[in-house]
Formats: sequence, C-alpha cells, structure tokens
Amino acid sequence: MEKFVINGGKPLKGEVRISGAKNAAVAILPAVLLADSPCIVDNLPNISDVATILKAMQALGANVRLINKTCVEIDPSHVNSFVVSKQMAEGMRASSYFLGALLGKMNRARVAPPGGCNFGVRPIDQHIKGFEALGAKMTIENGMVDGRAMALKGASIYLDVVSVGATINIMLAAVKAKGLTVIENAAREPHIVDLANFLNSMGANIMGAGTGVIKIRGVDKLEGTNYSIIPDQIEAGTYMAAAVATMGDVLVSNVTPKHLESIIAKLRETGAEIIEFDEAVRVTMRTRPKKCNVKTMPHPGFPTDMQPQIATILTIAEGTSIVTEGVWDNRFRYVEQLTIMGADIQVDGKMAVITGVKQLNPAPVQAVDLRAGAAMIIAGLMTEGTTEIENIVYIDRGYENVVEKFTALGADIKRVPIIDGAVELKQA
Ligand code: EPU
Repeated sequence: MEKFVINGGKPLKGEVRISGAKNAAVAILPAVLLADSPCIVDNLPNISDVATILKAMQALGANVRLINKTCVEIDPSHVNSFVVSKQMAEGMRASSYFLGALLGKMNRARVAPPGGCNFGVRPIDQHIKGFEALGAKMTIENGMVDGRAMALKGASIYLDVVSVGATINIMLAAVKAKGLTVIENAAREPHIVDLANFLNSMGANIMGAGTGVIKIRGVDKLEGTNYSIIPDQIEAGTYMAAAVATMGDVLVSNVTPKHLESIIAKLRETGAEIIEFDEAVRVTMRTRPKKCNVKTMPHPGFPTDMQPQIATILTIAEGTSIVTEGVWDNRFRYVEQLTIMGADIQVDGKMAVITGVKQLNPAPVQAVDLRAGAAMIIAGLMTEGTTEIENIVYIDRGYENVVEKFTALGADIKRVPIIDGAVELKQA
C-alpha cells in the first residue's frame, strides 16, 4: 500500500501535458471486440483502469500487444469467450461495456456487475432496457448479468435518465444490429462522440453523437482501424483547478478547449484568468478565489467529475458558495475529509454550502473515490504544511503519472510505501 505525502503552499508553475481520456478509453477498448481484424488505439492513458480492461480482453481471447506506453494493438479475431468474471470486473466500473460489446459481437454476454467508485446506487436499468429493446433476453444468474439473443434488431429507445453508460452500451450493442436504432435523451459527453467516431472509422454508421438523439444504422461488418483517443477533459480540469487553488500559472496542453467550456466559465467566476489556445489553456490566478455557485449536470453542463475539485477551491474562497450535485445521489463523501482539514461545509441532501475560510490545515486524509482523491491532492497542494493522502489506488485508476506531472509543476508530492504501519520514502 502507498500514500501521497504533500508539502503544500507553493504556487504551481509551468506546463502539464494532458493524457488520453479515461472515460473514452474504457468504452473504446471493449468496442475493439466488435471488429473482425486488428485495431491500433493510441493516446491511451497509462492508468490502472486501462490495464484492467486490457487484461479482461486478453482473458476473453483477444491478442493484445503494447506498441508503447500509450499505444496498443489489439486483435479481437480470436475472441471465443463471452464471460467477464467477478475477478476480472473487480474495481472496474466500465465492465458493463463488455455487455454491449459482447452482445454486439456474438449475441451473448455474461458479465459481473460493475465495481469502481462508490457514490450511491449505480443502477444499470437503462442499459438493460436498451438491450431488451434490441431483442436480448437479460437475466441475473449467480450474481452475473447474462444477456442472449438470436439476433439483435434495431429499435427506438428513450432513456429515462441521461446516462453516459447506457448511451455507450446501447451504441455498442446496436452497431451491428439489423436496421435502425434511435437513442433518445442520449448523453452528449465528448467521450460519446469519440466512441462514435471510433466505431464509424471501423465502418459503423452512427449519426447525431453529441446531440440528444443518436441514430445507428446497423452494419454487417466492422474492420480494424487506427485511432487516437481525445484528451481527458477531467484530468485537464483537475490541473486547471490545482493552478487556481495554489494561485499558480499553468499551461495545460494537449486539450480540446471546447470540451472545457463549463469548467473555464466557473473557474473564471472564481477570479482565474484563462487564455484559450487551439490545443491548450493557460490558467493564472492572482487573488484569493471568489465564491461561486456550481450545479453539476450532464454535458454540456458542469461535469460531476469536477465537483470535488472545484468545491475544494471554494473552501478557501471569499464568501459562501453553494454546490449542487445534479447527477449522483451521494457525491459528497469527500466533504468529511475536507472538514478534517478545517473546511466549513454543510451538506443537505444534494447541496453543499461552503463558507470559505482563509486557509485549510494539513492533516491525514483519505481518497474516498477517484475524483475525491484528486480533490485531496488539490487541498494538500494549496495548504501550507504536510498533508498525507491514503487509499490512493483510487487516484491511480484515473490519473496518469500524477506525482511526476505535479512535481514538474513545482509541487512537493511524493508517493510513499506504507510498510507495516511505518513509511519508507521513495523517489518520485
Ligand atoms: N442511472 C440510472 N440508471 C442507469 C444508468 C444510470 O438511473 O441505468 C443514473 C445514475 O444513477 C446517475 C445518472 O444516471 O445518477 C448518470 O449515470 P451515468 O450512467 O451517466 O454514469 P456512468 O456511465 O456510470 C460515467 C462516468 C463517471 C461519470 C458519469 C457521469 C465512465 C466510466 N464513468 O459513469 O465517471 O461520473 O458518467 O458523467 O465513463 C469518473 O470518471 O470519476 C466517473 C465516476
């Protein structure tokens, strides 16, 4: 086990290069299974979620060859299993995408329910509703989600909630189904568009991705392709937030500024100066942050995956801010950790009232989930003294080289093994 030890209070300065998008990668990799020939997928983030998915694909019979740390060649032509076991799915939220991909490939799938971050009930009823509309019989057997069909047939599916996962899963299952599938009230996140572009580059016929109505005309065959994943919107937002929180000056490069609009708008409200370039944004903060109200919503609203990070900035803002969670039932578990550091936050249901204090105090804290972990790093970086963060496996799931990237910006952050209750220092 390891933890992060941060000596905070230093403004971040310099340039950070953003990796490929986790939430695009975890959809695009299972989508490779639908092809009849090898695919090359580039700009993959080097994170444990991706490693877990690649292992699961190997176990299904895919041939996986790493070309370099961010590029992989996958030959799915020998995939002969449709079972993703509990052990394979452990810690992986995106395991559910194997349901859509395997149903789409072989009309058969048996997949352990998803693991991953825990912030309230994470149902998949809309995924199931979509598969059933396409003609699959879905059951739960021995704790595994089982789907089978003679042949999938296009259908019109209205999502009762805007769900990223259900939209992706239905796209995966429908791409080779006979006829036309229409997904209404579809999610519009950048990674949905990326998945559609990836599938279209294999020969699929998907229109409308990025809008609320996606139309998929089934094709008989998908061929291997060569594809580069979009930059990670949330990783970019996290470094932007860290620059603001530490009163820094950071160029966040290899990003798509269009994907960052809501984040840029809210960080500007806190007083940040943000200049947008073609593939970078420069974030400069010169004053104590100002209060601002934030409500998370599906894209193009403010992303729920940036809620803990911006809330962390607001703990030291001038005035009282209200943060409302509009996507998940319970995404305020990190609040307790910030409170340990002296933050003044009152949570009432899906709303947090944050009264800014001058500064937080260093303390030992936990990463209670991936983005909560990112928020703890930001809290540690903006707070003078030594903050220790445990449970960092969550952070490694989604942030590539997080220690190296923050160190290059001038942060004092170390990854420290925890051995029998004692700690041993290791070079970053
Ligand atoms: N929902 C249902 N029924 C369903 C599916 C979802 O009621 O069948 C509800 C959920 O309970 C939630 C809302 O719909 O209240 C949205 O959930 P969604 O399905 O959009 O979330 P997801 O696909 O499980 C992805 C990301 C999350 C991100 C959400 C929202 C991946 C692998 N995960 O989850 O990312 O928070 O969309 O944008 O893409 C993260 O990266 O830290 C992370 C948790």
